[in-house]
Amino acid sequence: MKMQFKPLHKVFAAEASGIDITKPLKDSDVRAINAAMNQHAVVVFRGQALTAQQQLDFSKSFGPLDIGLKRVFKRPERLEDERLIDISNVDVHGNVAKRDSPKNLSNFANQLWHSDSSFMNPRAAYSMLHCLVKPSWGGNTEFADLRNAYDTLDARTLNEIQDLEAEHFALHTRILLGDDAYTDDQKKEIPPAVWPLVNTHPGSGRKVLFTGVHARQIIGWPTAESRMYLQDLLEHATQRENVYVHQWEVGDLVIWDNRSTLHRGRRYDIAERRELRRTTINDDHQANLMAN
Ligand code: OGA
Ligand code: MN
Repeated sequence: MKMQFKPLHKVFAAEASGIDITKPLKDSDVRAINAAMNQHAVVVFRGQALTAQQQLDFSKSFGPLDIGLKRVFKRPERLEDERLIDISNVDVHGNVAKRDSPKNLSNFANQLWHSDSSFMNPRAAYSMLHCLVKPSWGGNTEFADLRNAYDTLDARTLNEIQDLEAEHFALHTRILLGDDAYTDDQKKEIPPAVWPLVNTHPGSGRKVLFTGVHARQIIGWPTAESRMYLQDLLEHATQRENVYVHQWEVGDLVIWDNRSTLHRGRRYDIAERRELRRTTINDDHQANLMAN
């Protein structure tokens, strides 16, 4: 069966069909998925009953896996393999996490528009999120296309941002959410990463407005002015017509490119179980070559 991609939105996001991703991928499948990612930036696979190992095997075909903030937090984890990121409100004992738990704090941080690991260098290339349990309402994930955000900037802003760089800091979202009891040593453990506001996406050659809530400062600008400017860029990038809303079904696997999209989770009843599992490809040199 030939793999096909059906657009889900006017400017990006597509649904794949004609492939069983629980089985090992052929080189031609990997090439077709990379090509679809370069074009659509978000690709949805429905009805894929992936085990943890199958998700790891599938993911590894696209580059080396990233463990993100786990390197720093070193908290006890429910999922055994450190390359599996537990996007759930379930605690280490398997129960729904307490309302004020660190687990839920991370989930609320995920409800701000972001690009995974943009606070690190190398950053994340693809993230792959697989749905195991969904709540009875809410809990969608939304995506915004940063290529279209760039293409639709007004002339003045387009000109202004060309040589600007932003500093992305891992704890910025936590601090915004009132979780600010970090020691100076902890803050130093994850030094900020600096990215130009204008990136060229390696696989597609398209220009990208690389913003998101991890960005806390424009290099060389006063902080207040920086933050308002970044806020304006984020507002532009996440206008409703630039957003694809993914309504989860159990068995969905969604891949997004963190170098060309932003995403955020949406509210749901946190007393209900929501369980997804993420794998993330590191954007190192090898990943760049593979995306080309
Ligand atoms: C993620 C993320 C949002 C969600 O998995 O990286 O931000 O809807 N998830 O859970
Ligand atoms: Mn995320």
